[in-house]
Amino acid sequence: MSQKILVTGGAGYIGSHTSLLLLEAGFEVVVVDNLSNSSVESLRRVEKLTDQFIRFYKVDLTNFDALSDIFKEHQFDAVVHFAGLKAVGESSQIPLTYYEQNIYGTINLMKAMQKFNCKRIVFSSSATVYGDPASVPIKEDFPISATNPYGRTKLFIEEIMRDQAIADSDWQIVLLRYFNPVGAHKSGQIGEDPQGIPNNLMPFISQVAVGKREKLSVFGNDYPTPDGTGVRDYIHVVDLSDAHVKAIQKITGLLGVTTLNLGTGKGYSVLDMVKAFEKGSGKTIAYEIVDRRPGDIAECWADPALANKVLSWKATKGLDDMIDDTWRWQSQNPLGYDS
Ligand code: NAD
Ligand code: UFG
Repeated sequence: MSQKILVTGGAGYIGSHTSLLLLEAGFEVVVVDNLSNSSVESLRRVEKLTDQFIRFYKVDLTNFDALSDIFKEHQFDAVVHFAGLKAVGESSQIPLTYYEQNIYGTINLMKAMQKFNCKRIVFSSSATVYGDPASVPIKEDFPISATNPYGRTKLFIEEIMRDQAIADSDWQIVLLRYFNPVGAHKSGQIGEDPQGIPNNLMPFISQVAVGKREKLSVFGNDYPTPDGTGVRDYIHVVDLSDAHVKAIQKITGLLGVTTLNLGTGKGYSVLDMVKAFEKGSGKTIAYEIVDRRPGDIAECWADPALANKVLSWKATKGLDDMIDDTWRWQSQNPLGYDS
């Protein structure tokens, strides 16, 4: 019988891609999402692409009773936990909401898991927990810190999970620290669909390319980097999702807490991304240099060696794939899932 996986936040950007890959790998997928930042259309498209069914519950993780009802109905082999709020700037304006949704939501989820004896979880952490790293590439044993409420929710959740694994050694926990996820499924059917003005670079560039935004603001060109603009480790969302499938496949052999960086190990600057997008899309990306964005760091890229070793996983898609796939999704769905 196939294993059954609960995917929280499965209607979202990374969750929908991971659900697709889990189905393709032979898992049964149940999704819980409150749709606060997504559309159920993403899951309908995953069903069409895979010709398989996803059981969907529109439930908020802060609702313990509703969550318990789902666990009563299904015996899960493991949980992949994406659900949460993720806008760094917004998290400073409404910190209580971030702490409630991300931390209280996760505690509820883990309480339900404990109650129904499902003690395997893969969690979406972030490279943001490294704060401003002393050097690059970043390894998992670098010191962790946070500079905003969003980052603190990730940091606290990691600590909560470590405490739980100490208290009950049956728990098997994989903390995946993502660098910068970009791109879309090669079908162009699912992708990133940010509400309002995008906070992140890649969706902003692609909205300029498609004519939805006039120009990109490049946040600073006086960083100590080769061209002065910020350098990040962009990773294709399908590579990232594939690491989740591998983590689920290997989790029974991993004891306690395993912490892994998910990145490519390569850094690209903002202007590298602009140039590559122009080449891939054939469009001109208008941009202007503006002040640095508060809280941004100069450069951030991963040493992904540990994930390569532990998961027998490696990012295989390069910058061209990231741009081609983003552009296919954006040009076929100029208004995202509302197109
Ligand atoms: P997303 O917003 O597309 O997906 C998150 C999903 O969770 C959404 O569908 C949203 O509706 C749902 N959700 C939010 N709060 C919920 C709640 N209380 N109950 C039920 N559902 C809820 O974001 P994403 O880019 O797919 O990110 C997934 C995870 O990865 C998040 O935890 C995010 O913090 C983390 N992450 C993302 C990035 C990135 O750049 N995209 C980087 C590092 C870490
Ligand atoms: N940038 C611009 N203009 C924009 C948007 C971004 O110049 O309109 C620049 C930023 O200054 C930075 C780079 O593009 O140098 C990437 O910025 P993003 O906002 O796309 O990504 P960040 O690296 O700031 O943060 C992202 C996620 C966080 C996550 C972090 C992990 O938003 O949630 O990656 O590395 F924690």
